[in-house]
Amino acid sequence: MLVLKNISQVATLQGSAPPRRGEAMGDLGIIENGAIVVRGERIEWVGSTRDLRLGRPDDHCEIVDGMGLRLLALPGFVDSHTHPVFAGTRADEYELRSQGRSYQEIAQAGGGIRASVRQLRAIDINLLVERTERIFRRFLMHGTTTIEAKSGYGLSLEHELKSLRALAILRGRSRLEVFPTFLGAHAIPEEYETARGEYVRSVVEEMIPRVAEEGLAQFCDVFCDTGYFTVEESRTILLAARKAGLGLRIHADELAHTGGARLAAELGAASADHLEWIRRDDIRALGRAGTIAILLPGTAFNLGLDRYPPARKLIDAEVPVALASDFNPGSCFTLNLQIILSIACSQMKMTPAETITAATVNGACSLGASDRLGTIEAGKQADIVLMDVGDYRELPYFFGVNHCVLTVKKGTVVINRLEML
Ligand code: NIG
Ligand code: FE
Repeated sequence: MLVLKNISQVATLQGSAPPRRGEAMGDLGIIENGAIVVRGERIEWVGSTRDLRLGRPDDHCEIVDGMGLRLLALPGFVDSHTHPVFAGTRADEYELRSQGRSYQEIAQAGGGIRASVRQLRAIDINLLVERTERIFRRFLMHGTTTIEAKSGYGLSLEHELKSLRALAILRGRSRLEVFPTFLGAHAIPEEYETARGEYVRSVVEEMIPRVAEEGLAQFCDVFCDTGYFTVEESRTILLAARKAGLGLRIHADELAHTGGARLAAELGAASADHLEWIRRDDIRALGRAGTIAILLPGTAFNLGLDRYPPARKLIDAEVPVALASDFNPGSCFTLNLQIILSIACSQMKMTPAETITAATVNGACSLGASDRLGTIEAGKQADIVLMDVGDYRELPYFFGVNHCVLTVKKGTVVINRLEML
């Protein structure tokens, strides 16, 4: 048994059925001076510390007492869009961008996704697992207990399978919970430069059936954008994925308005991600389809662009919004969702409460897991984090700092830095 008590605020995220839309995104179901009782992998009780009644604690009762501290409890973050399986960094590109080169220019000169593909193809799976495992620990250190994780730096049957198998190995080894996504359509690989139709055929006829057959992914994603995959190609790939039993996600309207969000609505995809260039009609279509808009404002921030997704318009149109890191070595090299919340407040004018809803329960919903993840309620999986702030608004306000001092995954304390306070 694990008991957390005298917690200044517990953001339970209890409320209407998820995903949360519109005004409901602003309601965190806060309990002041709260307490949480965890038994086994589940939350048994949550309420005010005043009402906490413990029977005779069993032998293994661990108590975290926040008396005299200022602590905020949240459901563990659900990062619903990440690219964590890569073999090396691209600091050289970051430096070039700092000197004024653009992401697209660098990609056209042979860098970008293709640079990561060359690195990934050269690494063996054991080393890949080892590196990715270190990254997974860092997610947990920053309060993220669940991620969606994409392949997409292999771009061949062999190396896409290697990436997804690395994730499968880590699912049995790491405490971080992972929802794997096949992103074979992340870019056209160099060797198919003049035969893109052939590559699409290989994704549809070779990769998707194999990935589905081996149970290596729950979702399929496509980078539907200018310079990457067209709406037609994306539709073909996603229809094949759906037929193979995979859920659908789309990188949509990030670099230009190409109609990716519209396609997501048409296919009833689980999510449409990025959306910097989405138009008004597409917003309405997403709202009608119930597709979750996953916004990744770390990308514009990291690339130094001034165009952010229209979060306010989406929320006002009752589109359910999630926030995620887009963690990847190219366009957004952070896995700290806390700073993503800060960027969302300052650059997209989301409120602190909306950002927390977006990074927990709505993220979980995009993964089809909100029955189990994303809120602190009796019966839910005990994924809980403690942040070293006494008021939820301080989480994005005090930015660039890792506030996470305790991470509980499935009822087990996996990170504990409380003694440092
Ligand atoms: O989400 N948009 C597509 N993929 C990544 C970038 C990947 C990379 O540059 O390595 C993104 O921004
Ligand atoms: Fe991405």
